[in-house]
Amino acid sequence: MAFYEGDVEVLIDTARLQARIHELGAQVTKDYQGKDLVLVAIMKGSVFFATDLARAIDLPLTLELMGVSSYHGGTETTGEVRISFDLTKPMHGKHLLVVEDIIDTGLTMSFLLENLAARHPASVKVCSLLEKPSRAKVTVPIDYKGFVIEDRFVVGYGLDYGEKYRNLPFIGVMRTE
Ligand code: IMP
Ligand code: MG
Repeated sequence: MAFYEGDVEVLIDTARLQARIHELGAQVTKDYQGKDLVLVAIMKGSVFFATDLARAIDLPLTLELMGVSSYHGGTETTGEVRISFDLTKPMHGKHLLVVEDIIDTGLTMSFLLENLAARHPASVKVCSLLEKPSRAKVTVPIDYKGFVIEDRFVVGYGLDYGEKYRNLPFIGVMRTE
């Protein structure tokens, strides 16, 4: 995308992203045979990933959205997690797969897992496109993981910096970082 070329350097290109998402989709397809699968996409970041992942899963799944925010515009988490958009259906007895863009400190996901468990689903698993293990403050189990990356602030494919760059079709790092 010419518009962003000056400020963003490619870290994971579109072909690598899509190939890995197809592998994850095949694994999920195998693991959830015969189960009532619900993808819970965490807005806004994971929406791009979740729609591609859903198309790579060969099962009759449903898609739900949940909005949480632990960020207030910058590149550092405040540790405070809020629900900004809640699920609109009961999750009782469903097999939930939480779809996240990135697990950084792990605070958002640990909050989410506690919150979802209270709704008595049949199971809850985690699928995250990216993981930055060097920044972990709490340990969260990641059942399906796209890529492990080093401690760099990434943008693109759903990930934002000040709400921009989400529409890049690859994962990149800011040149000014
Ligand atoms: P955590 O609670 O620290 O694990 O942060 C998770 C959330 O922080 C993600 O869902 C992202 O919205 C945001 N985040 C963490 N690292 C990055 C990054 O490198 N780029 C953009 N957003 C990030
Ligand atoms: Mg997010």
